[in-house]
Amino acid sequence: MFASKILITGGAGYIGSHTAVELMNAGHQVVIVDNLCNSSIKVLDRIQNLAGPNFTFIQEDVRNASALDQIFQEHAIDGVIHFAGLKAVGESVAQPLRYFDNNVGSTLALLQAMDRANVRRIVFSSSATVYGDPEHVPVKENSQLQVASPYARTKLMCEDILRDLQISDPRWHTAILRYFNPVGAHASGLIGESPKGIPNNLMPFIAQVASGKLPQLAIYGNDYSTPDGTGMRDYIHVEDLAYGHLLALKQILQSDQLLTVNLGTGKPYSVLEMIHCFEKVSGKKIPHQFAPRREGDLPCYYANPELAKKLLGWSAQHDLERMCADTWRFESMRNST
Ligand code: NAD
Ligand code: WQD
Repeated sequence: MFASKILITGGAGYIGSHTAVELMNAGHQVVIVDNLCNSSIKVLDRIQNLAGPNFTFIQEDVRNASALDQIFQEHAIDGVIHFAGLKAVGESVAQPLRYFDNNVGSTLALLQAMDRANVRRIVFSSSATVYGDPEHVPVKENSQLQVASPYARTKLMCEDILRDLQISDPRWHTAILRYFNPVGAHASGLIGESPKGIPNNLMPFIAQVASGKLPQLAIYGNDYSTPDGTGMRDYIHVEDLAYGHLLALKQILQSDQLLTVNLGTGKPYSVLEMIHCFEKVSGKKIPHQFAPRREGDLPCYYANPELAKKLLGWSAQHDLERMCADTWRFESMRNST
């Protein structure tokens, strides 16, 4: 097994913390840089609990070029996984400058610092949102890219920067991972998604209704052209995502290329199916009522995950019950600690 020292930006966040644990348990050393704008310092104890003390945490903004230079000087970094970013679609519509500054600004500052440090291997967190409203589902990587929000545009801009960079200098080894709908938590219940305020996304909302923090769920639309009329998405367990990063990293540490793959299961579930599955695994009722469609939502959206299987040997292992059970364990444990 290859072993290396990996810089993880945004490593205190939801997907980053799971990936840090996955990498460390596979024998890598990890340096986490996070400004904690959407995460908590407490996560670091949990990471240590799950994977030992073999990591360094630096509380810093990725846009700080001189801090990045110092990190690359002090640590012999072999590659970078870049999670740091803001991710709320609605907020990005209200605050586009903040989103472009943070998401594109951090990516530019990071790539420039990497170039100065002669570290040219990067895995980038992109999103299925770069496909916009695709002509066909399941969505393939060569579908047309089109964006419908400032958040989505930041992801497309960063992807474009990475593609241009690769063309200009083939020493760059890049993996662009387009996640579908990440859900679930670590099987230990120690790390998971802790949204600040009222959740925007379905799974954390359901979890908070189940735990009694929120009274009921509004289902946005029951008149879509889907079997039960509610919206369908490709929910993917965060531990499957974390493993996808490990495999992508392995690829780009071993061969020079630009790799772009979907990380999804290829199997969509409806809002009602999600509610029923969560009720089954938690034993809790999820009170819900139908509400108008949410603007910008699509009826049914899911990945063709074949390319990730072919290029990385990756496919999702965890089913919907596991996604709900792990979310519920995390939600129950964080309410009791
Ligand atoms: P998250 O908010 O839990 O994690 C992001 C982390 O980055 C946070 O800990 C935050 O404090 C940190 N951060 C943000 N800006 C920073 C900056 N300028 N400098 C340093 N740290 C900074 O989000 P997540 O769900 O773990 O998402 C990780 C990445 O994956 C993001 O880039 C997101 O856009 C992308 N993504 C997420 C989803 C999703 O639904 N969760 C889907 C597709 C893509
Ligand atoms: C899922 C389904 C809703 C909440 C978003 C971003 C996307 C990506 C992942 C980052 C839809 C329905 C939801 C609720 C509901 N993030 N729903 N009631 O919109 O597919 O994707 O997160 O890259 O860019 O847009 O996820 O979890 O918000 O919604 O009925 O209270 O649940 O209508 O059908 P979405 P979601």
